[in-house]
Amino acid sequence: MRKVGIVGIGHVGATVAHLIVSQGLADELVLIDKKPEKVASEALDFSDAASLLDKHIDVHVGDYPDLADADVVISALGHIHPIKPDGDRFGELKANLPMAKQVGADLKAVGFNGVLLAISNPVDVITGIYQQATGLPSAQVIGTGTYLDTARLKRVFGEALGVDPRSVNGYVLGEHGASQFAAWSTINVMGQNARTWAAEKSLDLDKLENDARVGGFTVHSGKGYTNFAIAHAAVSLLQIILSDARKEAIVSHYNEDFDGYISSPAIIGRGGVVANFDLPLTAEEQDKLAASAKAIQTKTADYS
Ligand code: LAC
Repeated sequence: MRKVGIVGIGHVGATVAHLIVSQGLADELVLIDKKPEKVASEALDFSDAASLLDKHIDVHVGDYPDLADADVVISALGHIHPIKPDGDRFGELKANLPMAKQVGADLKAVGFNGVLLAISNPVDVITGIYQQATGLPSAQVIGTGTYLDTARLKRVFGEALGVDPRSVNGYVLGEHGASQFAAWSTINVMGQNARTWAAEKSLDLDKLENDARVGGFTVHSGKGYTNFAIAHAAVSLLQIILSDARKEAIVSHYNEDFDGYISSPAIIGRGGVVANFDLPLTAEEQDKLAASAKAIQTKTADYS
């Protein structure tokens, strides 16, 4: 039995739920939200689809005791708050911090011991809050981090080259926010590094990097929230976790060097982060990662 919980059934939580249901990724899906009528309607809407699905899935409204034996809990809670044009998401911290502390305490109280996957922003900080509040081993608490920004960079770089974004490999590292950066030394298409492509095709890498950085803002500016890409990122990670894939993925996870949560690639499996490797970054990229960790710390202090 694969049991998954989602806390926060807004635009993002509902989209995550829909992907789980439509792809048959769990046997039981527990939905938790502060608005009882809204979450009951979401669950009923999914139940109405049950006879039309290929796979059986038990979707129901629940409370924290239902999550005691969940394999994965996804935090999609959050107040809608505009992402700033520079990509900054710290405006959400004040509202989301107490909620994350409470949810973490509730999960701890029921003895939840699965993997906690945080989407809620600012995700690097909220993921750390969850680790503290649940007392779970840090390996079991991860955030979507720059998995999404990496996907956005794959989109813009793929468009620039006229290739499918899945043909682009590499990472956007650091904060899921303004201080993130494209680690160009890791980014390649067909084995050729991004800088070589840029020289051949006259690409402006700084512009591409920035287009990815502000990609969430760009979507937000038209519809007031983002949901599809982030939900796909979360569900992609969920699938890796539940199948114990031991696949590399870029997630926000605990980094000893900075004593905080920040995105870098890790090997993900049933236990969350199951292995870590040092990326062979350039000295400049290492400096940018350290600067990004510092920026997260400074903004956490400023906004708390
Ligand atoms: C985004 C939100 C999830 O970037 O931060 O779409």
